[in-house]
Amino acid sequence: MEKDVIIACDFAGREEVMNFLRKFTDEKPFVKIGMELFYAGGPDIVREIKAMGHKIFLDLKLHDIPNTVKKAMSVLSALDIDMCNVHAAGTVAMMSAALEGLTRPDGSRPKLIAVTQLTSTDEERMRRELLINESLEETVLKYAENAKTAGLDGVVCSPLEAASVKNRCGKNFLAVTPGVRFAGGDVNDQKRVTTPAMAREIGSDYIVVGRPITQAENPLAAYRRCLNEFLEK
Ligand code: C5P
Repeated sequence: MEKDVIIACDFAGREEVMNFLRKFTDEKPFVKIGMELFYAGGPDIVREIKAMGHKIFLDLKLHDIPNTVKKAMSVLSALDIDMCNVHAAGTVAMMSAALEGLTRPDGSRPKLIAVTQLTSTDEERMRRELLINESLEETVLKYAENAKTAGLDGVVCSPLEAASVKNRCGKNFLAVTPGVRFAGGDVNDQKRVTTPAMAREIGSDYIVVGRPITQAENPLAAYRRCLNEFLEK
């Protein structure tokens, strides 16, 4: 299975992201475009970055009634993206509709993964505000199972959950994991972090890395270090 490092391009607009991507001349990293950049730059920024030769994970985390999500996904499928996502909390019916909408007339489609529980949600909040009384781990695993039932390719989860997700859903079910930091590096606002090498050992297929690369003094060197550690080159 192909493993890769995805750079979270959390930039405010076109100029900032282009300044960043210009630093990469030999390699074309897989990039994640999230809500901030997409709402600022729209579909044009996706087309422009794709035309530069990058693979794209469009991280818009759709969550609405199945029909709306299906139609929105069908619009996104016209963009030449490689991966996109929904919230598993939208139910199996919503995830199935998303998959249907995303599948192009020729049968091809980007990978579709589901957000289980956001890493910003803790068990206490889940109980108190969402009235979910199962443990956080069991909730993540159940949501992953739902995503698998709907035919999705995998989930976004903490690297620390990657092994149990694979146990429950099979080794080919993708674990896409943010929360990665270099040994001794800044943790920022992430709570539970692992190094690229540890993420590989636990079973992540793709690591999503933002600030350790985007805010590094030398982003190209940081990207290469991350790739080497994750792919054990
Ligand atoms: O800068 P940093 O490496 O923390 O960036 C991680 C990226 O992954 C951000 O774009 C963040 O929104 C995203 N993400 C996350 N935790 C989740 C889901 C997405 O950190 N559970």
